[in-house]
Amino acid sequence: MSEKIALASDHGGFDLKNLLVEKLKKDGYDVLDLGTYTKDSVDYPDIAALMADAIKTGKVERGILLCGTGIGISIAANRFPFIRAALVHDAFGARLCRQHNNANVLVLGGRTTGVEVAFECADIFLHTGFLGDRHARRVEKLSHMTEKE
Ligand code: RB5
Repeated sequence: MSEKIALASDHGGFDLKNLLVEKLKKDGYDVLDLGTYTKDSVDYPDIAALMADAIKTGKVERGILLCGTGIGISIAANRFPFIRAALVHDAFGARLCRQHNNANVLVLGGRTTGVEVAFECADIFLHTGFLGDRHARRVEKLSHMTEKE
């Protein structure tokens, strides 16, 4: 059975999100398109919250989020302790966010990242495993962050 992947964007990531939806469907993924579905302006925290719900309720294990730069929506997504969202601009980041950070959400900027680079990043993100070991210790600490003097 093919993996189910959720995608979601605000208006700034709308065009690139739709291209990714089509590409991933062609690649055989079961795609859950959480919107947005028009170019009308929406607030990226609301879109990040839709992705958080899809992951928390087990509809998907992994997803891809987009806004104009990817910055706002990655900040929003990372407010949820079970999300490790990585804003990525190239293949190296896409590989390392999986190998070292066990990222479960890839974030791309619809106004900053070209379509071919975005496709490459998505492909690498979806095909790269977590290395565990010392990285597992560090990732575990992300779930228990407290201030240190
Ligand atoms: C929306 O205009 C824009 O601010 C948003 O897409 C994103 O780039 C925010 O970080």
